[in-house]
Formats: sequence, C-alpha cells, structure tokens
Amino acid sequence: MTTSYKELATRGVQGLTPYLPGKPIEELERELGITDSLKLASNENPLGPSSYVQKQLEKEVSGLHLYPDGSAHKLRQRLASEHQLDMPQVTVGNGSNDVLELIARAFLTANDSAVFSEYAFAVYPIVVQAIGAKANIAKAYAADHASMPYGHDLEAIKNSIDAQTKIIFLANPNNPTGTWLEPDNLYQFLSSVDEKIIVVLDEAYFEYMPESLKPDSVKWLSEFSNLIITRTFSKIHALAGLRVGYALSNIEIADLLNRVRQPFNVNTMAQVAACAALDDRQHVANSIILNTQGLKQLMIGLDELDLHYIPSIGNFITVDMKQDAAPLYNALLQEGVIVRPVANYGMPNHLRITVGNKQQNERVLMALDTVLHPDSNGTNHD
Ligand SMILES: Cc1ncc(COP(=O)(O)O)c(C=O)c1O
Repeated sequence: MTTSYKELATRGVQGLTPYLPGKPIEELERELGITDSLKLASNENPLGPSSYVQKQLEKEVSGLHLYPDGSAHKLRQRLASEHQLDMPQVTVGNGSNDVLELIARAFLTANDSAVFSEYAFAVYPIVVQAIGAKANIAKAYAADHASMPYGHDLEAIKNSIDAQTKIIFLANPNNPTGTWLEPDNLYQFLSSVDEKIIVVLDEAYFEYMPESLKPDSVKWLSEFSNLIITRTFSKIHALAGLRVGYALSNIEIADLLNRVRQPFNVNTMAQVAACAALDDRQHVANSIILNTQGLKQLMIGLDELDLHYIPSIGNFITVDMKQDAAPLYNALLQEGVIVRPVANYGMPNHLRITVGNKQQNERVLMALDTVLHPDSNGTNHD
C-alpha cells in the first residue's frame, strides 16, 4: 500500500481521537476467564429495561422485515405530548450522541467555532473536530472550588465566545464530573447569549436531578429560539443498547436537523421501547429511588475509604484516587470490576463509577478497598 489514506481524509478527521467506550463485560470475562464481572463504567441503569418494555418489544419481532417508520411519528408525537410541545419540534436520534452530531453537521463549518467547558462530555470535541471547526474550551472551576469543583464556569464559557462561534454545548449535569448548573444562573446565561449562537443544553441525566435543581428548560424553548435541549433513553429509561435520544427545539431548527438525519436512524425496536418506557412511570420512579440510595451508599463508602469525590447529581460519581488512577483501574479489572478511567478528560487521578444496585455498590467499594490496601484484609462495609 503506497497511498496514505490518512492524507486523503479531511483535516478534521485526521485530527480526531476516537471515543473511548467503557470496557465491555464480555471482553474482560474472556481475558480473565471469569463469569461474574461487574460493569459500572457507562452510566447504565442497573434495573435494566422494565418488564412492560420487554413485553412490547416481544410483540414487535415478527415485523422486523419492514423498515422502521422513518419519521418516528408515534414516538415524536408521544414525546411532544410528554413535553407539551408540537411534534415538529422533536428530532429523534440513534442515541443523543447522534443528535449532537446532527447539530454540529447542520450548523458548523471549518470556519466556525464551538464553545464547551473543560471536562465536558467527550462527544462535543469529537463532533466539532470531525467537521474541522475550532473548539474553544472554557476553563472549568478549579479542583478546589468551594461548591462546584470541575464544574462548568458560565462566565468563562461566555468569555470563550468569539466572532466565529456558532454553538455552545452545556451538559447539565455534566459527565464525567456529575456537576450541575443552578437554574437561575443557566437562565441568566441563556438571556445573555446572542440568539445567533445555538445553545445545546445536554440533559442526558435530567430525570436523576433533584426537583429543586431541575431547570424549566423545556418551557424556556418558547423564550430562547436558539436553545436546543437533548435527552436520551439510555440512562433512566435503561435502553442504552437500543440507542434512542432526541432533541427539542424550535420548528425551524428541528427541520434543519431532520435534513441531515438518516431516515431510519431510530430502529423499530427502539421506537417501540421508547414509547413504552415513557408510559412506565413506575420504572422511572424506581430508578430514581435506587439511584438516590446508591449514590448515598457510595458516598458513605468512599468517605470510609477516605476518598474524595466530585459532588454528583447523575447516576455516577467521580472519585479522586490521589494517585495515577490507571494502575488502580487495572487492579479493579483483576477483581472483575470495570469502572471508567477519565484520563482522556484530563483527569488522570480520577475514576468514574456508575451507581449500581446495593450489592453492586458493595462490591465496587470492597474492590476499591482491596486494591488500595492490598496488604490488609480490607475494611468491612456492612
Ligand atoms: C452528558 C451526556 N450526553 C449524551 C450522552 C449520550 O448518550 P446516548 O448517545 O446513549 O443517548 C451521554 C452518554 O453517556 C452523556 O453522558
């Protein structure tokens, strides 16, 4: 092969670093020859999809020779009524990652810039870089910030806007930090941004937020024409494997996103499961309770291990291991526990742990104890 295909690729793609997903369970079990490993690495819902969702899916299997409804009419209608919006304001995606990419493709060129915070969700730099647009990364709050270490600093974000800025990405709460924006501050920020700049408010973990911290973001759509809200079925609705997410925006923006959307980007099973998941409010309520208890359990256990963590309102918690976290991550793998290293976010000493069920949380705390204190028998977490 004499041709460098890399040189043939666009400048943006040449500079891309691929997204690093959490290590799959199957891979670890193959490597270690074990069968009972635990993955708390991708912020999935430990309850799994509800039995109601599973039943609806079973009914759909015999129709899989047919293409999906390309306009996802029923799902969009259902989402519109859920949020008291009009159906044309809803754009569906193959996960919200897909929606984030649609937004970048619809609005950015190589001559534009996009703004997001340091430590913000890893897909923002990827979708921006893929187009060859410039990423203006705003400094986050410092590690010793009193209330929101590593959090988005809206003032710094505003100061990172330049004449080329077309999009601002905000994650609330943010992954991997779990940090959040106070509703009033977010509202002030939106009021201050020129309406020519699109503000993407990524609310992948919205349903997990305490009520007092949930912004009225959907209501704000009528006030801020430049606002796009993204949400997902991967987290509280426990459908990460099916890939469904969506955007809520004004109709003109939704129309533009739909022009770049693949017509069948959300498959039949995903559409059916998403509608069913919205109907199963008990499963959402149970998931919130489990997460609240699990987050508390993890915080108590981490305190006992004398480990500091970033305050989180998501379904995960990011822990300062006070040393290079890579060897500890590998040692946890040997214990059959997969967590998420976040060195690719510029946080080499941290590990992100997804909140599991009671037993899973106990196991990860015990495994942490074992890898941190290999010479002792470990602390009792009962
Ligand atoms: C902040 C944030 N946004 C978006 C996503 C994308 O989720 P999905 O593509 O599964 O909808 C994630 C996934 O982890 C996330 O953490």
